[in-house]
Amino acid sequence: MKDISIEKFIAGIPKAELHLHIEGTFEPELMFTIAHRNNLKISYSSVDALKKAYRFNNLQEFLDIYYAGASVLIHELDFYDLTWAYLSKVHLQNVKHVEIFFDPQTHTQRDISFDVVINGIYRALLDGQEKLGISFRLIMCFLRHLDEASALKTLDKALPYKKWISGVGLDSSEVGNPPSKFQKVFNKAIEEGFLTVAHAGEEGPSEYIWEAIDLLKVIRIDHGNRCLDDDILVKKLAEVQIPLTLCPLSNLELKVVQDLKEHPLVKMMEKNLLVTINSDDPAYFGGYMNENYLGIAQALNLSKKQIAQLAKNSFKASWLSASEKHTTIRQIETYLQNN
Ligand code: HPA
Ligand code: ZN
Repeated sequence: MKDISIEKFIAGIPKAELHLHIEGTFEPELMFTIAHRNNLKISYSSVDALKKAYRFNNLQEFLDIYYAGASVLIHELDFYDLTWAYLSKVHLQNVKHVEIFFDPQTHTQRDISFDVVINGIYRALLDGQEKLGISFRLIMCFLRHLDEASALKTLDKALPYKKWISGVGLDSSEVGNPPSKFQKVFNKAIEEGFLTVAHAGEEGPSEYIWEAIDLLKVIRIDHGNRCLDDDILVKKLAEVQIPLTLCPLSNLELKVVQDLKEHPLVKMMEKNLLVTINSDDPAYFGGYMNENYLGIAQALNLSKKQIAQLAKNSFKASWLSASEKHTTIRQIETYLQNN
């Protein structure tokens, strides 16, 4: 066993990212570039002024800025550039597989067509696969602050793109917008062959996690921090091995935890939950995958074995085939032995 630093160990280990909003990868520099070429004004005078606005007390304060940022995306090329910038970045971090969210309603509400959005994103994902070797899945999220009728219309728009979209998810303002509000649209999505996931238990209560499982039939929970409030739920998540896609720096920035040292990751691992590390909205929360792994590893004093377990979990919880999962998990085991 060579004694490389935790930082190098994290940087070199193969990882999969399963909780990533592509609109949340919009770095201020690219935002200004795209706004300028689209003749649009950003209400901040400079990249630095914009970055200074990235201080949030809760999810809603973040979402208000996140939707404002996304409003400069107009053309297919804008969505391509956004996605390509993300893939280029995580390629340098040894991310080998991504399952990314996009929020079509954020754009269709501004009269940007669904086709423009998905064509730009998908073309970049194909290029990422070909040129960077990053495999991918695409997940379409419904905005839960909007009504179910809007989600149903969005699902209809997605049907011609069934081959490109693996699953549907649920994001945006959680409290007051329970999973039960979207039971019809999720059932229809399942009938159409989509897999389902949902954000639940980030700010909302553990009951929302139950609803996501029982009513929306999700096969993965995004965040899920609040599951620890309910022992029976924890037992169920552990038994069925329903993955939780955790996002440490997001939790810190949105005050879900006050300090990374208080993050429930280790508690969850001890309870045999299938937890993974992800970046959520890296341009807004101060870090991509490696920064999330390193932040949580340092705060909780994780061993290399625990870090390798998290990397293995990321492939186990992914929608890759069994043989693809097996190959990468073996690589991680070898990596751990050699480092
Ligand atoms: N939670 C809910 N909605 C979101 C998030 C999140 O962390 N990021 C982008 N949309
Ligand atoms: Zn999220």
